[in-house]
Amino acid sequence: METSVTCYSRGIILPSVSSQRSSTLVSPPPFFSASSSFKQRLKSSSIFGDSLRVAPRSQLKATKAKNNGGSTVTKCEIGQSLEEFLREATPDKGLRTLLMCMGEALRTIAFKVRTASCGGTACVNSFGDEQLAVDMLADKLLFEALQYSHVCKYACSEEVPELQDMGGPVEGGFSVAFDPLDGSSIVDTNFTVGTIFGVWPGDKLTGVTGGDQVAAAMGIYGPRTTYVLAVKGFPGTHEFLLLDEGKWQHVKETTEINEGKMFSPGNLRATFDNSEYSKLIDYYVKEKYTLRYTGGMVPDVNQIIVKEKGIFTNVTSPTAKAKLRLLFEVAPLGLLIENAGGFSSDGYNSVLDKTIVNLDDRTQVAYGSKNEIIRFEETLYGTSRLKNVPIGANA
Ligand code: F6P
Repeated sequence: METSVTCYSRGIILPSVSSQRSSTLVSPPPFFSASSSFKQRLKSSSIFGDSLRVAPRSQLKATKAKNNGGSTVTKCEIGQSLEEFLREATPDKGLRTLLMCMGEALRTIAFKVRTASCGGTACVNSFGDEQLAVDMLADKLLFEALQYSHVCKYACSEEVPELQDMGGPVEGGFSVAFDPLDGSSIVDTNFTVGTIFGVWPGDKLTGVTGGDQVAAAMGIYGPRTTYVLAVKGFPGTHEFLLLDEGKWQHVKETTEINEGKMFSPGNLRATFDNSEYSKLIDYYVKEKYTLRYTGGMVPDVNQIIVKEKGIFTNVTSPTAKAKLRLLFEVAPLGLLIENAGGFSSDGYNSVLDKTIVNLDDRTQVAYGSKNEIIRFEETLYGTSRLKNVPIGANA
């Protein structure tokens, strides 16, 4: 059956697209079809977040200021819609369309995650005609969103690690790599999970670096649903909250990652035969750092951006090999952290400097404040390239 597809974001009405697979992307969650009296009751009830729906804009107005390099920087206004924000963040209409469409997919995935039924380790969404594991459903929704954007040339996901032609142009278009549902092994325990994606210009996802990305983002499905994004060349990493009316509202801008004793130690089994990693963990414990680790890279890295401090490590050893993927996870999160004023490292260099040779390349990684990344590099390899870099150089 052919279906006519419309992207629901305000201001983005995409042309109708014929597709066999479209219904999952666009069906609004059932709460949109509530009866009018019920909607009226919702409106008059403060329990349902009226204060958020009418949240006043902060006093922060959009301002233009000269930075040290003499170029003009636009500062965004907290409280803006995603669309308003993107108009200030980038003049590229195609990139704005792509990020709005991905926002639509994230909104739908949030609903599917929230309503999935879990048995054993599998979480299945049984609404509608099909029954799909929620990570496979997320994968499908994201490919659909990219196709409907009409600006994506190639897309590729951790679930389908081969370039898929999305029909968009090479010139002026983008290629996108994504991890549809990172942490799908903790979705049954109701921990926070998320989507990660990176956007590269043109048609290449290999032979490029993380530094070539034009934007990166995560969708975070926790007690709240948020869309956290960074646009290259626009300062800060920006958090948008999904309101109960379905819109994204700008709620936080991060431009600095400060020093603070919070650690998130991944792949801890590597301490068995990596004595330097073991030494680093001992240091955190001896210095009474606060442990904050869920085993989901999205919430574990997002907390550094939200709390504006801390360190995330995922270190390898001869028996505990690298499992994090450079293209789908590490590079996009690298752009989010570095745009927020933090630093990333594979032990020697920023993860944004690493060339992606194969779609499936894997690496060890750390994200955090400047001094934490210096400590990470020095403890592991005896030296750090960051010793003479002033704080804020990455912001
Ligand atoms: O992508 C794999 C992943 O689930 C990440 O989200 C997470 O940071 C990591 O694995 C956890 O690994 P470990 O359990 O080895 O710390």
